[in-house]
Amino acid sequence: MAAPHVSGIVALIMSKLKNDNKRQWSTSEIQSALITTANTFDLDGKPIFDEATLNSNANILQRGAGQVNATNAMDPGLVYNIEPNDYIAYLCGIFYNNSQTVQKFTKNNTQCTRSISGEQLNYPSIGISMNSRLARITVSRTVTNVGDAREIYNAKIVEPPNVKIDLSQYSLSFTRAEQQITYSITFTMKGAYPGFGVIQQGELSWVSNRHTVTSPIYIAF
Ligand SMILES: *[C@@H]1O[C@H](CO)[C@@H](O)[C@H](O)[C@H]1NC(C)=O
Ligand SMILES: *[C@@H]1O[C@H](CO)[C@@H](O)[C@H](O)[C@H]1NC(C)=O
Ligand SMILES: *[C@@H]1O[C@H](CO)[C@@H](O)[C@H](O)[C@H]1NC(C)=O
Repeated sequence: MAAPHVSGIVALIMSKLKNDNKRQWSTSEIQSALITTANTFDLDGKPIFDEATLNSNANILQRGAGQVNATNAMDPGLVYNIEPNDYIAYLCGIFYNNSQTVQKFTKNNTQCTRSISGEQLNYPSIGISMNSRLARITVSRTVTNVGDAREIYNAKIVEPPNVKIDLSQYSLSFTRAEQQITYSITFTMKGAYPGFGVIQQGELSWVSNRHTVTSPIYIAF
């Protein structure tokens, strides 16, 4: 039943933007609003449960970003946008510039002229693979201000157990609507390599006095 619920909330967001005479968001921006404002707690305030095993909290692969919260999603504060061309660069990156494979997705005569690695897509969550003890990966993200013109956000980080997270900046200070800020996140191994196949999770939230914009972080070792 998630699909009809989510479709309904997307319609709600689009109609609110229209009523408020605001710019219509791209589908990626709407998706970002749903993801970054979701609740990771259930209605009793407890971590979302894993219904498959019935004996533990759901991990990031089971719960995704969490349960969509319509009220929050209509006012996310910041959104992560992705242009169609970014998706093409992403497909070119993950399919090693094989234009013929990419054309299966675009149904068009697409040629790979730009490629990015998977984790560099401006997605509201971050998934990376750290396949060695020396791994050090930097990804960048760009946020667009759809909240108050003047709003200051501070970073709140939940580090995955085996990884240190450093940001290029720990505060985002906006002075106008629709302003974009790009920051980068560096992941470095901390302590012993946890073992091949291990998955760890963390979180990066940008917090202002009105909004909390959370990116789930997933690390595969
Ligand atoms: C949605 O989020 C708001 C504010 O964080 C909270 O008060 C409300 O209980 C949440 N709604 C649901 C259904 O979780
Ligand atoms: C794709 O091609 C570009 C430019 O020709 C190159 O810089 C990039 O490394 C290639 N990407 C992959 C994944 O092979
Ligand atoms: C397909 O290619 C044409 C010509 O290059 C372009 O105008 C059109 O926007 C492309 N369509 C899609 C869905 O990428």
